[in-house]
Amino acid sequence: MATPHRPRRSPDHRHDRSSGSLLKRSMAPCVTRRDALGLIAAATAAGVTGPAAASTGALRRVATLADLSQPWAAVAFTAQDGAEEVPGILVALPGGAIYAAALLCTHGGCPLQYETSAQTISDTYDVTVPGAALVCPCHFSVFDLTRDGAVAGGPAPRPPWRFEVMVRDGDVLVGRLDRS
Ligand code: FES
Repeated sequence: MATPHRPRRSPDHRHDRSSGSLLKRSMAPCVTRRDALGLIAAATAAGVTGPAAASTGALRRVATLADLSQPWAAVAFTAQDGAEEVPGILVALPGGAIYAAALLCTHGGCPLQYETSAQTISDTYDVTVPGAALVCPCHFSVFDLTRDGAVAGGPAPRPPWRFEVMVRDGDVLVGRLDRS
């Protein structure tokens, strides 16, 4: 694999949403916040595999709906996947779904960062996206969260892996990580 190099302008993920970037709280795949019963969740548009009620893995509470009440709000979390501890993120999509994915680049495994500033994405990664994205500072891959994490730029071969996600009693739960 090629030696990782630095972005032209290193994103600062320590500041808040007012400046565009967001390192935060926790993250998971997609369910609609409107699902009062929660188990209906798995937002089709967000591509959650299978019915949420058919979870095959242990579910863990990583956020509340209140944490994700605003479009593009995000919560970071870690989840155990076998022997590996995987960083993940939940993002509240503007349409009401919750996106949940691993913060690992599908190119070389670098940690992904959540970026909400279109200007920063454009300036740093030379990619234009209509909303927030997950970005990889190693080789500049960009994953467009308005298109279910589709690759918008860079060498990554596919979108980030997704976590199973559901909402129950106002809590957002994540389960199995789908690496397929
Ligand atoms: S590790 Fe190469 S683009 Fe992310």
